[in-house]
Amino acid sequence: MMKRIAVLTSGGDSPGMNPAIRSVTRTCLNRGIEIIGYYNGYQGLLDGEYVQLDRHRVSGLSRHAGTILQTSRCREFREPAGQQRALENLREHGVQGLVVIGGDGSLRGAVTLHELGFPVVGLPGTIDNDIYGTDMGIGVDTALNTIITLVDMIKSTAASHRRCFVVEVMGRGSGYLALMTAISTGAQVAVIPEYRVNLQKIIDRLAERFANAHNNSVLLVAEGVCSGEEFMRRLEMESAGTIKQEIRLTKLGHVQRGGSPTHFDRLLGARMGEMAVLALNQGERGVMVGHAGGKMQLRGLEEILGRKKDLPADAVRLARNLGIEFGEAVEM
Ligand code: ADP
Ligand code: F6P
Repeated sequence: MMKRIAVLTSGGDSPGMNPAIRSVTRTCLNRGIEIIGYYNGYQGLLDGEYVQLDRHRVSGLSRHAGTILQTSRCREFREPAGQQRALENLREHGVQGLVVIGGDGSLRGAVTLHELGFPVVGLPGTIDNDIYGTDMGIGVDTALNTIITLVDMIKSTAASHRRCFVVEVMGRGSGYLALMTAISTGAQVAVIPEYRVNLQKIIDRLAERFANAHNNSVLLVAEGVCSGEEFMRRLEMESAGTIKQEIRLTKLGHVQRGGSPTHFDRLLGARMGEMAVLALNQGERGVMVGHAGGKMQLRGLEEILGRKKDLPADAVRLARNLGIEFGEAVEM
């Protein structure tokens, strides 16, 4: 049994990170393991900024988005010298195992510590849902619920004003949020990195809808393709002013990472947090906890980070059958 474990959150925050921290903490304490939390991601690890976690510090955390440990993007940790210093600090602080909660980049950081021989387990904490080896990342479900609530609201204004709305959603390299939102809200178009839309088809679609008294539309643009402004510019250039509807832009921005975690994300964070501690104690090293096909699983970090997560094939088919315009697959 390990005597002291540490946990940190890194990269973009995601709703469900707090329930995961709470679960890591309580599982450790129930097994007689000391638990510390590094503040501010890898930066706190480099600066030796940490807190001793106890029941009191994690009490009530399940319902809060964000991360009480705070997070950062730390340039210094990308360099071998930074990684070496992190390793020295972990040893100096008596830490025997580390749980890293974060996105793709943060898990790459975790691999560097694993390669230096330090016991690490990763948890996929990102709203983008771009990490192979888990059906859902911690925070994806909450983000989608937030996004569909907001798009539904936009839809009422679109209908009242007979307008077309371009809505920019997050997703650094993945169209998961945009495509799933289109399916759930009835948006007409999803512009996503994995597929290339045909602008002329979109223009024709808008014209046809307008002619048939469907005089409002929602076009979702994943920021991984371009900004909403850029997409509007392209649409205007391609249509040469022929679109009859007024077009407005809404950029949802960071509200997508806020909000109280849904039941799904609280449970996912809690289950993954527990499993991370159990895995470290069972001697698992360099693995990520995932949830696939309804089951928890462990997969090697190096393996999962080397693989691209595709959009779920059944969701792509469903989007086609629902008539959502998202274009043709791009070779990646
Ligand atoms: P996310 O984890 O949300 O994908 P980032 O890509 O910004 O966010 O990564 C978070 C942090 O993880 C970075 O600021 C850096 O400290 C660390 N990191 C990212 N990529 C690597 C890498 N290839 N090697 C070492 N550390 C990395
Ligand atoms: O990776 C999660 C994410 O929310 C992306 O969808 C987005 O591109 C990025 O983080 C935004 O990062 P920041 O909070 O640094 O602006």
